Amino acid sequence: MNIVLGVGGGIAAYKAAEVARALMEEGAAVRTVMTASAREFVTPLTFAALTGHKVITSLFGDGSPGEVLSSSVEHIRVARENDALLVAPATADLLAKFAHGLADDFLTTMYLAFTGPVILAPAMNTEMWRHPAVQANVETLRRRGNHIIEPDSGSLACGETGAGRLPDPRHIAAETLRVASPVRDLEGEVVLVTAGPTQEAIDPVRFISNRSSGKMGYAIAEAAAVRGARVMLVSGPVSLAPPPGVDLVRVETASQMRKAVLDRLETATIVIKAAAVADYTVENPPSQKMKKTAARMSVDLSPTPDILAEVGRVKGGRLLIGFAAETQNPVAEARRKMETKNCDMVVANLVGQEGTGFGSNENEVTLVPREGSPVVLPRASKREIANGILDHLSWLRLSRNAAR
Ligand SMILES: Cc1cc2nc3c(=O)[nH]c(=O)nc-3n(C[C@H](O)[C@H](O)[C@H](O)COP(=O)(O)O)c2cc1C
Repeated sequence: MNIVLGVGGGIAAYKAAEVARALMEEGAAVRTVMTASAREFVTPLTFAALTGHKVITSLFGDGSPGEVLSSSVEHIRVARENDALLVAPATADLLAKFAHGLADDFLTTMYLAFTGPVILAPAMNTEMWRHPAVQANVETLRRRGNHIIEPDSGSLACGETGAGRLPDPRHIAAETLRVASPVRDLEGEVVLVTAGPTQEAIDPVRFISNRSSGKMGYAIAEAAAVRGARVMLVSGPVSLAPPPGVDLVRVETASQMRKAVLDRLETATIVIKAAAVADYTVENPPSQKMKKTAARMSVDLSPTPDILAEVGRVKGGRLLIGFAAETQNPVAEARRKMETKNCDMVVANLVGQEGTGFGSNENEVTLVPREGSPVVLPRASKREIANGILDHLSWLRLSRNAAR
């Protein structure tokens, strides 16, 4: 596997040398491209010595030690000859340039010509990372299919504490190789995923909903598509970009979600119900906005259809994965759901905690399979948790296929 390692001008540039080593320990050949700012932090010689290859530092060649430029269209040659592009650290500046298509040096020009998997590992000060401009650029890049390795939280070189730290180099290397040579273990499967909350109208302007952001379901849908499945994603109202390569169906209410799921069940071979569907809906909401008065007000709620139980009753040979998002005893609730809803596995999720569950980018779950002991997936990005869930699903799938 040939990897181009792009190094941006951030304080974590020195860690890119360890990323190069970790990639090589996993058997990859590494070519390094450094931006001018990156060379303010580390010398090309470090990477040349580690990788055994001269380092590219300029679009036009500047003759600096360790630099190579053998052809006038070197950026195209490098883009074609390598299997994946990893940028670590990806600075705020590089994210902006990639998102907007700027091409004013070797790395940004080669990025535009690169057609293989692109993995970006942003690292910067917490406030920089949180800035809406940076987040918008990250979202744009994610939507285009670039794989973002979320920065870690912790103490930063600037003396502050928070999200923005470059993750462990071995983690970056492993994630890069996984994305560059994705397991296609779900090829031939049609996966139906539900995600997000539902909204139940009280009147034309108000609704009852919940705190689900849809991030977990979207991460599962995206990861399943990367692993070769055809994916149908039925989503409640969320503010997330559609995952690349996934058929997205947007719904609003629990009853619309039920219809969208049942309409597609026939073609699905695996159903993953990550949506937080409302348990109650408002009976006969008025067609006009309700006026505020001094009097108390109440709305009558009636239970919504239990979509998971309904799918469980008619699932046939399909694998059915449910979610139990609970504020206490999630594993016990998962076991109950397993039995009452006829699931093959339930993902138990403790919500209402700082940093995991609803709305956050990270999660920590316990997989409760029908047979065998529960498996804890420790705190990680929702993308990694999604892959952990799919790894276990893959085992269930093998046993199902063997039983046929
Ligand atoms: C000491 C120092 C540390 C810096 N660390 C970071 C960083 O960690 N992340 C970042 O995005 N920018 C950082 N910057 C700012 C970048 O160096 C600057 O935006 C530069 O233009 C990025 O160049 P690039 O596009 O080659 O990465 C730092 C600047 C200085 C002076």
